Amino acid sequence: MTVVLSLGGSVINGTGEPDTRFISRFSDIIKKISKKEKIVIVTGGGYIARAYPNVMRKFNISEIECDEVGILATRLNAAYVIRILNAKGVNVYPEYLSSCDFTVKLRDVLNIYNVVVTGGVSPGMTSDADSVILSIASNAKRLVNVSNVNGVYDSDPNKNPKAKKINKMNHRELLNIVFRSATGMAGEHIIFDMLGTKLALIHNIELHFVKGQNYTDVEKAIMGKKHNGTIVRD
Ligand SMILES: Nc1ncnc2c1ncn2[C@@H]1O[C@H](COP(=O)(O)OP(=O)(O)OP(=O)(O)O)[C@@H](O)[C@H]1O
Ligand SMILES: [Mg+2]
Repeated sequence: MTVVLSLGGSVINGTGEPDTRFISRFSDIIKKISKKEKIVIVTGGGYIARAYPNVMRKFNISEIECDEVGILATRLNAAYVIRILNAKGVNVYPEYLSSCDFTVKLRDVLNIYNVVVTGGVSPGMTSDADSVILSIASNAKRLVNVSNVNGVYDSDPNKNPKAKKINKMNHRELLNIVFRSATGMAGEHIIFDMLGTKLALIHNIELHFVKGQNYTDVEKAIMGKKHNGTIVRD
């Protein structure tokens, strides 16, 4: 069986400087677990996916075109993660998936490799939504969202100091939270993409939210063990 990870660009490179400690610890975890489980990692865009569109907007360039550039940032992160895993001796597919037939391709590649890493595919949606699509395509056990926050709150904890963390909720509750904060702008800071949440609801994909720097939680969530983040299931 397969576990899918939506690996936030905020943890790979949230500041303009890739986090060396994170990628080192994370790749060790993947190396260990990939001996038992197939793992699909969908990388987000992080700092670069925001910095470039921020300039492009000054030239009145559409959000879709901002997204196209954002996708290149997710692919840069995928190419980087692939190489680090490869250098650590992980059985990782050496390319990211780039065409719209990526669901079929994923199944094909998972027959041979233990780990597949890819960035975003289509403008108008984020790598979170791609990760749900790949969870459906690979019949995954669960999807683990790895971000810079330790779970889902009732509102953005970086904007509202009184925001409360919720340890367990259903898909509709997550949809309500996401709906309140989503604007549709490329690179917005939301806990999970609106389309991804809807698809997870329809296809009943179990979601786990953990903080990337909490390595114990990352490992537990991938393994399906109890963790300190948030679990979303009906
Ligand atoms: N209800 C919420 N609960 C938790 N975090 C929230 C919520 N609403 C908004 N956020 C914000 O979402 C941020 C995480 O999403 P963000 O898109 O910045 O990172 P990411 O998805 O990990 O990275 P990337 O989008 O680059 O792949 C948090 O730092 C937090 O400020
Ligand atoms: Mg995000």
